Amino acid sequence: MELENKVIWITGASSGIGRALAVQLAQENTVIASGRSWEKLLKLKEEVPEIVIRQADVTQPSELAYTCRFIEQLFGKLDMLIANAGHCEYMDVRSFDSSIAWRMMETNYMGFVYSLEASLPLLRRAESPHVVAMSSSSVFAGLPRAEAYSASKAAISQFMESLAADLKPEGFTLSVIHPGFVDTELTRHNDFPMPLIMTPDKAAKRIIQGITREQFSIDFPRALTWLLRCLKSTPFFVRHRITGSLSRNAQHEL
Ligand SMILES: NC(=O)c1ccc[n+]([C@@H]2O[C@H](COP(=O)([O-])OP(=O)(O)OC[C@H]3O[C@@H](n4cnc5c(N)ncnc54)[C@H](OP(=O)(O)O)[C@@H]3O)[C@@H](O)[C@H]2O)c1
Repeated sequence: MELENKVIWITGASSGIGRALAVQLAQENTVIASGRSWEKLLKLKEEVPEIVIRQADVTQPSELAYTCRFIEQLFGKLDMLIANAGHCEYMDVRSFDSSIAWRMMETNYMGFVYSLEASLPLLRRAESPHVVAMSSSSVFAGLPRAEAYSASKAAISQFMESLAADLKPEGFTLSVIHPGFVDTELTRHNDFPMPLIMTPDKAAKRIIQGITREQFSIDFPRALTWLLRCLKSTPFFVRHRITGSLSRNAQHEL
């Protein structure tokens, strides 16, 4: 697939992976970059003036609908949605807090669903529409403290499986991204080792390569995602022994 002269909307493009994607894709395409932080979006625009910026919170369907009306007025169609906006909070089962699970579902999962709802009519006007959703390699294994985050990302991956069945007959291409660790604001507060961590620029390059190849599941870095997939395919008692040994509860009494 040629990735040029497309109209591409990227949510969560004010920082990290989304920002790196916006900068790289804007070289050959029209990019609409959205996020909540107007200050960060303005900085992006200073760096790459061709990028169109819009302030939109993915938990607010009206703001997403407004963004799509704006795209329609300016460009008449949308070739690609990259639903990237997301956030990560870890749980501590010793002081269980369901509001974390709610926030993860609201921003990560519903944010993706709302973005899709707003953009589908415009995507249907494109010759070869492409829906790209940001999941995580955490869906391949039940890692400690990732209950809420992984569940919100697993919901996205599963949603995309069914969406592929329903939208492919209409000529859509679908991709779901499962990255390992990327050095962004999201991972900066992580207080555990992050093997094979990569820069947002490198992650964006790998994502663009996967999109161009029309891969459904864009998994990287290979060594990590392969290891996690292998872990998931082991019997319960084996993998629960391994993941349990990584849990803080292995060192603390409940
Ligand atoms: N970094 C990693 O290791 C890693 C690994 C796997 C998956 N991911 C996923 O990759 C995506 C990007 O994360 P990142 O690592 O690049 O982190 P980041 O630098 O913190 O970027 C997150 C982006 O999402 C936006 N965002 C958050 N909540 C939003 C909301 N309610 N409405 C609109 N935009 C919102 C943020 O913009 P504003 O604050 O301006 O709204 C920001 O642009 C996320 O979905 C994350 O789960 C990251």
